[in-house]
Amino acid sequence: MTSVQAFFGAAVCASKDLPRLLGLEQWKALPTACRQISCVSSCLVSDEQQKAAPGSLALSAKTKEMIEREKKVLVRTYARAPVFLARGEGCKLYDVDGREYLDLAAGIAVNSLGYGDPDWLKAVVEQANTLTHVSNVYYSEAQVELAECLVECSFADRVFFTNSGTEANEAAIKFARKYQRHSHDNEAQVATEFISFSNSFHGRTMGALALTSKESYRLPFEPLMPGVKFIEYGNIESAKKTIVSGKTAAVFVEPIQGEGGIYSATNEFLRALRAACDDAGALLIFDEVQCGLGRTGHLWAYETFNVLPDMMTLAKPLAGGLPIGAVLTTEKVASAITFGIHGSTFAGSPLVCHSALTVLKKIKDPSFLSDVAKKGLYLKELLSKKLGANPHVKEVRGLGLIVGIELDVAASPVIDACRDSGLLVLTAGKGNVIRLVPPLIISEKELKQAADIIENCLPALDNATAF
Ligand SMILES: Cc1ncc(COP(=O)(O)O)c(C=O)c1O
Repeated sequence: MTSVQAFFGAAVCASKDLPRLLGLEQWKALPTACRQISCVSSCLVSDEQQKAAPGSLALSAKTKEMIEREKKVLVRTYARAPVFLARGEGCKLYDVDGREYLDLAAGIAVNSLGYGDPDWLKAVVEQANTLTHVSNVYYSEAQVELAECLVECSFADRVFFTNSGTEANEAAIKFARKYQRHSHDNEAQVATEFISFSNSFHGRTMGALALTSKESYRLPFEPLMPGVKFIEYGNIESAKKTIVSGKTAAVFVEPIQGEGGIYSATNEFLRALRAACDDAGALLIFDEVQCGLGRTGHLWAYETFNVLPDMMTLAKPLAGGLPIGAVLTTEKVASAITFGIHGSTFAGSPLVCHSALTVLKKIKDPSFLSDVAKKGLYLKELLSKKLGANPHVKEVRGLGLIVGIELDVAASPVIDACRDSGLLVLTAGKGNVIRLVPPLIISEKELKQAADIIENCLPALDNATAF
């Protein structure tokens, strides 16, 4: 330790490389004060950098090299930000040069317990040391334990595991079709159509994509699954007219739309959907891939509205960063599903399920959830106070820790400026919404820090032209 302190005294300017030089274990073993000294020198953006145009922060040699390597070998589906991340701790991420970022993106609403949660880490290591993967041809305890816990704390009677959100929605599509076929002897009466909404996002595979409203995602891949009707999110009259007996198999809806722009359903809307589905014999499916599992301050977003679905899809945060998805369903639907009808090689592995059980147990704790609700209110009030007077800010909205700041212009200049100032945030909607989905463990102090940075970065919009 003495040598480390000597190192600090002699070369604070080199301290941005300290985690790399020391290795993660030794770095973590340093007293907090030492680590903070290093952070101060590594995270703060210099005055010169602050003056640079947003998004033009000089890239390090390591980052430039990574951009070049990636460009040569990866299929070009991601327009990535020029950030080369190396490690995370709590709600902070660090790039390869030791630069610190406060993370209000959380891997797109995935890392709800932040980075390096000790209980999650213990669960991963413990299970990896015991049994990582077994085929679904056999039984494994972790999968059953996780399903028992999900059933115990939700509306559902049964669970089907997948590896991602889009796969959970594919499974729900198949289950809805199978349920309708199971319920009608006469093939001509089997309802096969689906209803989805404006601003919806349900995934990128062919079925889930057919339910996703954004044309630029869908059009290059047509023909998609036929029989999908889109109606306006929140429009009760339109929903009542469109949900039709003998035609509509299921209605897919996000209780709070994430990618679409942080739009929340109302009680009346979801209640009307429930009633219309019941009248028509259609199934109501809530996609809580982004808004579920504590993000709203309730364990499930549907609890906010007091309306129960027939199926609910989950994914993102469930396994603390490991790939997982799930369909939660009532017995009514599950009784139509027979052996061999659907399956997955990787889904529900002991490693992923044991890790997810740790996440679920932590998040479902009432005090954890009330803390999320409290921090969500704090964040929204703070943002309204700090940003409300800016002429480009149209609305601050959301529930719990899924919050959107709608602008009258594209959000990218302010997103880039935030990144240059050490804050990671996302866009949503038509690119005009700043989306904040931080780790649920974030502190009020960190939320205040984020709000300050966003406020300071709003001048990046000064020359923007209205949408
Ligand atoms: C509401 C919703 N459904 C489905 C998905 C697709 O999930 P995945 O990317 O895990 O396939 C997403 C992803 O953003 C989502 O937000």
